[in-house]
Amino acid sequence: MVFQSPRGTTDILPHDQPQWRSVEETARAVASQFGYEEITTPIFEDTALFARGIGSSTDILEKETYTFHDRGGDSMTLRPEGTAPVCRAYLQHGMHNLPQPVRLFYLVPNFRYERPQSGRYRAFNQFGIEVFGENDPYIDAEVIEVAWRYLAELGLRDLSLTINSIGDPSCRPSYIDHLKSYYQPHIAKVCEDCSRRINSNPLRLLDCKNEPCQQLIENAPKSIEMLCGPCEDHWNSLITNLDEIGLQYEVENRLVRGLDYYTRTVFEISPPDEGRMSVIAGGGRYDGLLEELGGTHTPGIGFGMGIERVIENIRRQNIPQNEHNQRTIMIAHIGSAAKLEAIKLSSQIRSKGGTSLVAPSRGLRSQLRYASHIKATEVVIIGDEEIQNGSFPVRNLGNSEQKNFSKSDILEMFSVS
Ligand code: HAM
Repeated sequence: MVFQSPRGTTDILPHDQPQWRSVEETARAVASQFGYEEITTPIFEDTALFARGIGSSTDILEKETYTFHDRGGDSMTLRPEGTAPVCRAYLQHGMHNLPQPVRLFYLVPNFRYERPQSGRYRAFNQFGIEVFGENDPYIDAEVIEVAWRYLAELGLRDLSLTINSIGDPSCRPSYIDHLKSYYQPHIAKVCEDCSRRINSNPLRLLDCKNEPCQQLIENAPKSIEMLCGPCEDHWNSLITNLDEIGLQYEVENRLVRGLDYYTRTVFEISPPDEGRMSVIAGGGRYDGLLEELGGTHTPGIGFGMGIERVIENIRRQNIPQNEHNQRTIMIAHIGSAAKLEAIKLSSQIRSKGGTSLVAPSRGLRSQLRYASHIKATEVVIIGDEEIQNGSFPVRNLGNSEQKNFSKSDILEMFSVS
């Protein structure tokens, strides 16, 4: 039997690594431009953290977590999303005592037992940011700008940004009552999921994708029309700030997000041909979450973005990758003395910061074929005669030019300062 990777997981093979590196490095660079600092939390946490942090009536908690008992009998869950763990770390490490706001970002794997399909995996990676301790809506606009800036930096085009406000605990309950009374007379017509959600998670009625529910959603009451004074002020300033930055957005009543912790601002960024592979980035404000997790009242906001989806969109839009112009030097050798010399020279090039490897012990032709295969930029050829003369041919594999150099010239030429 030959093993396969588990369903819904992928290997990132060597030829894909440069693209992954560049997408992750761009995330780090853009996050740093905005003053965010990197944090990495463990791959698993106490199950209770996610039950508290994500909400027990969400899809993630109801059916998607990878949960197990460790050998000590404690229930652990593989991280399904990054926000709750980062909140936990913020509280645990006393970051609430630092000058606020605290800006953090992460690049981490997540695990959800979802039905795999294009763009949806059981193990996937997220670039996410979280900001703690700032109520002012300039930060909502900033968080959205980080996501937008990053995707623009990668060259992605024709994306759409949708925003909404789902209010806070003082205005949302009455909005939900309105929503429920609006749905009540039609309950026999809605899909199975919605007839369950009307009691368990009524906001999610609005993001149902099933056909029978679409007309109802179309005419449903809008949360932004029922905000309390402070939420309305927050929403209006967010709009002003987004306009100031020049970000184009659409206000979307259906946008409620799938996690329970959101308050006020929610947003998503989607690719042009939505449907095949949906949302690239999603986030929002969660002003009650830190309190829920045992902290004092501390506002928070952030987003999560699937790296696999980012990369799939880059490929679909045929965005050329940055050529990485690193030189790779292979040292070919003919004879046993030459092989020893190759091992030494290769090591010396590396100690000067260059990238170098010794050719496999085969005939010269086969060594040169191998050099092309590994995309070496130059080959140094060493034989007994070259050792005797102290002069070594260096072949440029790009233009096939060949010239002789002394060992010290070679080291000089391939050193990286
Ligand atoms: P989320 O909407 O569950 O939010 O996930 C954010 C992004 O992660 C999605 O837009 C998508 O790009 C990617 N993603 C989610 N599930 C999968 C999957 N199964 N396969 C591939 N990609 C996936 C959160 O996780 C929140 N923690 C975001 C947040 C941060 N809100 C505030 N701060």
